[in-house]
Amino acid sequence: MQNGKTGMTVLVLAVAASSLVGGTRAEAADAARGKLVFQTCAACHNDKPGAIGPSLRGVYGRQSAADPDFRYSNAMMRAKLTWDEPDLRDYLKDPQAKVKGNRMPFGGLSDPKDIDDVVAYLKEYR
Ligand code: HEC
Repeated sequence: MQNGKTGMTVLVLAVAASSLVGGTRAEAADAARGKLVFQTCAACHNDKPGAIGPSLRGVYGRQSAADPDFRYSNAMMRAKLTWDEPDLRDYLKDPQAKVKGNRMPFGGLSDPKDIDDVVAYLKEYR
């Protein structure tokens, strides 16, 4: 009886404490974690001459296929997207479904948390 009650109090305090810090810390942590997720992307999206993918600096809010140094596929040229949050989410979840026939050799991210975080990071990546 006594132990059960103490355990309950501890649990309630722990939940209260985590929701107190949650609000402000979650956002900063997301972009920071997104930076780690982006390591996967950086194999191709790395701004180096001859990189396999276009530069993603400033991609958030940019027109699709707008890196002048990169030769995009016709599919990507025709996509006519503005990379806002919904479009980035859809594309990163299933690139071929969003832009059919595009040439990104990457199957997409299956974990929604990875998508949230990498999009948060892309907003800051300029
Ligand atoms: C194996 C290489 C590779 C990986 C890994 C990769 N990409 Fe790409 N990505 C490409 C290529 C190539 C294109 C251009 C596709 C085309 O022209 O059809 C592209 C295009 C894009 C575009 C459109 C860019 C524009 O200027 O319109 C976005 C956004 C993008 N990738 C995001 C990502 C993100 C975020 C990741 C990691 C989660 C990622 N990619 C992983 C190769 C890659």
